[in-house]
Amino acid sequence: MPVVVLVLLMAQFGLFLRATRRGKFEVWAGVLDSLGLRGDERVLDLGCGRGAVLLMVAERLGPGRAVGVDLWRTVDQSGNAEEATLRNARAEGVAERIELHTGDLTGLPFEDAGFDVVVSSLAIHNIRGAQARATAVDEAVRVLRPGGRLAIVDISAVGEYQARLAELGAQDVQVRALGWRMWWGGPWMGTRLVTAVKAGE
Ligand SMILES: C[S@@+](CC[C@H](N)C(=O)[O-])C[C@H]1O[C@@H](n2cnc3c(N)ncnc32)[C@H](O)[C@@H]1O
Repeated sequence: MPVVVLVLLMAQFGLFLRATRRGKFEVWAGVLDSLGLRGDERVLDLGCGRGAVLLMVAERLGPGRAVGVDLWRTVDQSGNAEEATLRNARAEGVAERIELHTGDLTGLPFEDAGFDVVVSSLAIHNIRGAQARATAVDEAVRVLRPGGRLAIVDISAVGEYQARLAELGAQDVQVRALGWRMWWGGPWMGTRLVTAVKAGE
């Protein structure tokens, strides 16, 4: 194998490793800080997996709750299981501030308008079919209270989420690239953030 190809492959692998071990956490810390949580909110993490973002949310809460919902698909995340997330929460000392639910993002097991903030990290693109992904966005907005905020981070389909949020009448719908820290091997595999506010407050 030519040396230049080897160097490129190693650079790609290095970027991927950095994104998964550090970049995702650094970037989400900024996203969560920008939400300016007071600490008493009910925050829902769609597709929380083993809890990378859920636990960061919980660390920012006092009397509030970080609620995670997932189908615990190991094809999407290795070692994915409700017990694993609970174990991680105990290790971080935030177990009493989280709730875990098993449920599908296209039919959330929650009442309307029960959350102040809804976040999602690298989860909705795993749902097959644009219609089903649109339904997941509908569900995210349904469970958000009027004036509540939404922040979805994903590697693909972000334009779909943006369009659906606009159709639903969400306010201040914005999309931005999250930069090299969330390049999963290179700029062709970047990550974007879509934020919005539910209308009606
Ligand atoms: C790549 S993992 C991301 C996990 C976590 N949010 C993170 O950033 O580390 C995607 C997650 O979405 C979940 N997921 C995929 N499709 C889902 C669906 N239809 N309903 C609920 N969860 C789903 C998977 O089980 C997995 O936990």
